Amino acid sequence: MSGERRLRIRPAGEEDLGPIVRLDAEAFPADPYPYFVLRQFLACFPDFVFVVDDGADLVGYVLSTPPNAAHSWILSLGITPGLRGQGLGRQLMTRILSHLRGEGVHAVSLSVEPGNDTAVALYRSLGFLPDPGGPRADYFGPGAHRLLMTLTM
Ligand SMILES: CC(C)(COP(=O)(O)OP(=O)(O)OC[C@H]1O[C@@H](n2cnc3c(N)ncnc32)[C@H](O)[C@@H]1OP(=O)(O)O)[C@@H](O)C(=O)NCCC(=O)NCCS
Repeated sequence: MSGERRLRIRPAGEEDLGPIVRLDAEAFPADPYPYFVLRQFLACFPDFVFVVDDGADLVGYVLSTPPNAAHSWILSLGITPGLRGQGLGRQLMTRILSHLRGEGVHAVSLSVEPGNDTAVALYRSLGFLPDPGGPRADYFGPGAHRLLMTLTM
């Protein structure tokens, strides 16, 4: 990584909970994960959370599930607004996918808002394919449609 600040991708620790809660609220202002969910996620699956650390603060995070029958889900990905478009989202995804490969994962799925062109473009460029049936209506409740995408590796 380059830039004025030394950015480093590393596994998350319990002390990262507060910044991850903030990043999640920045990434998904309308529907962030509740604090207790992120706390439990970090406690239960600490090896499946990676963050981007600028030395003073966290500027990105990604969460995935541990594999179940060699299949994992990416549950969240976010980069702080001021640092988007600089390759950090791609680097975080590359890091978690490499970790998942090492854990024996052969398929990774995620859900994305169908109109989130940036995220859909990122996932497509990494090899994720959309569900052939298109977005699933009301996937996360009334009006919350989602496109499911899967990477086979
Ligand atoms: C989606 C998100 C994580 C991408 O992170 P990022 O660091 O901005 O993305 P990157 O700079 O690594 O770009 C990766 C790819 O995304 C796409 N992309 C990035 N910025 C884009 C833009 N403004 N318009 C369209 N596509 C764009 C491109 O395909 C890009 O690949 P390229 O660099 O080869 O052109 C980030 O925008 C974000 O946090 N958004 C809010 C939360 C969110 O939507 N998360 C995903 C939910 S499923």
